[in-house]
Amino acid sequence: MKTIKSFTRYSVLAMSLCMALGLQAQDVHLTTDAGAPVGDNQNSQTAGPGGPTLLQDSHLIEKLQRFDRERIPERVVHARGTGAAGVFQATADISDLSKAVVFKPGTTTPVFVRFSTVMGYRGSPEQARDPRGFATKFYTQQGNWDLVGINLPIFFIRDAIKFPDFVHANKPSAVTGVQDANLAFDFFAHTPEATSMLTRLYSDEGMPDSYRRMDGYGVHAFKMVNANGDVHYVKFHWKSEQGMHGIRPQDIAPSIGADWNHMTNDLYGAIKNGEDPKWDLYIQVLEPKDLAKFDYNALDDTKVWSGVPERKIGTMTLNRVPDNYFESTEQSAFAPSRMVPGIEASEDRMLQGRLFAYADTQMYRLGANYQSLPINRPLVQVSSEDQDGAMNSSGRKGEINFEPSTAREVSEDPNGRLVQTALSGTTQQQAIDKKRNFLQAGEYYRALSAQDKADLITALSADLNHVTNEGNKYTMLSYFYKADADYGTRLAKATHADVARVKSLADQLSDG
Ligand code: HEM
Repeated sequence: MKTIKSFTRYSVLAMSLCMALGLQAQDVHLTTDAGAPVGDNQNSQTAGPGGPTLLQDSHLIEKLQRFDRERIPERVVHARGTGAAGVFQATADISDLSKAVVFKPGTTTPVFVRFSTVMGYRGSPEQARDPRGFATKFYTQQGNWDLVGINLPIFFIRDAIKFPDFVHANKPSAVTGVQDANLAFDFFAHTPEATSMLTRLYSDEGMPDSYRRMDGYGVHAFKMVNANGDVHYVKFHWKSEQGMHGIRPQDIAPSIGADWNHMTNDLYGAIKNGEDPKWDLYIQVLEPKDLAKFDYNALDDTKVWSGVPERKIGTMTLNRVPDNYFESTEQSAFAPSRMVPGIEASEDRMLQGRLFAYADTQMYRLGANYQSLPINRPLVQVSSEDQDGAMNSSGRKGEINFEPSTAREVSEDPNGRLVQTALSGTTQQQAIDKKRNFLQAGEYYRALSAQDKADLITALSADLNHVTNEGNKYTMLSYFYKADADYGTRLAKATHADVARVKSLADQLSDG
């Protein structure tokens, strides 16, 4: 009997059936997607020995058609990524803050994490001067909660309306298809609020040498709501138990040369060796009345909450490499809007935009029924009246596809009711107050070691040296000077700029 290796999921099913029937695995044969046996997978059907290939070779046609459709649109950002599964264990009682079951001490919740770079295409090198995505899906007993963060505690901009422009300027050029520092810094020269994030990004901390050895942050403030309806504002921080380690500027090119898929190989290698990476989840907590006590806007995602203590609430362990990259990692869909009772959105203007954008792009990228894919499906039963759409396999039965109905009573869960927030004022389009664009960049710079400062100057000046528009270059230098005079002076020298001119531009900036 001819032995044929199994390829499709159908043959896997057939294999189980064969095993159930006591047949040997060798009996499994190759089939079409409709399950019919394939007689020859090496030669197309032709009109005689020298003639053309026949349209009636439906196995060939199906094989090519399926191949032609293998790719789906890559993520508009964060296209290059790596996924791993594991568990989150809650360790601290924070029922005074949140009623979410995922935080109940002793609860173990399965998770799927996707790490990523931001601007590169799907096959781009993993070592890039780019924030790293750190997206976690918690499959909780109350539905899915996605914490879609990055490896740095803040972001470049503070209003969602600027996000498409920020991405256009930083993605490869619309003409050459190559990333261009000129375009990026043209945008940043008009975006002083990015000064703090750029400072972190160009430090060694901004260039982690491994996904295992970096922290993660939720960046925005979220609301936690307890069983009494009390609200607190929180920020989330994943602290790596492996420690943090960055790549120094002089080591970046050699590291890409050595292995440009190092981040995935490192993570998967460790998990396969039984060295499961762990992160502890910490929160910072503020009472609503305390939001106003800072001299910056505490709901501005370009700011860290200085001086607010952190407390540990659990630990995540990644212990499994998915065995199908496409079905797990590529089709995973994380959305900041996906929350569970006890966790709600804050009024942060970036988060508010994100609440819309992710589920929207996922319906385009993966289709309307993307939440029923195994990687995205909640562990709890889904019971909604949403229906149909392409590739639906919900198994819904009966004609009551609306609610309320006398024929079928479904109850609402008061636990899922959202908290009430008092509002005041008029609709408006105005920037936030207490911007403090430069304050925390200076604080961060001054806290760096001598070596870290030198590495920051080396890395940032290298990119600023590509900026040919002199006005943009001087504007950027003035921002860094405004953050800290030593920082700005050293950058000006490293970019052959006139320090006096940089200082005079910085003097005209306000940091209110
Ligand atoms: C208004 C601002 C933002 C918008 C409109 C936006 C939009 C998007 C979109 C459309 C995707 C692709 C999602 C997909 O195809 O599944 C994405 C991915 C992602 N974004 Fe954002 N983003 C914003 C800001 C941020 C911020 C501030 C962070 C970090 C806190 C962040 C972290 C991520 C991560 C980690 C991913 C990758 C998720 C994954 O691995 O699938 N984004 N973003």
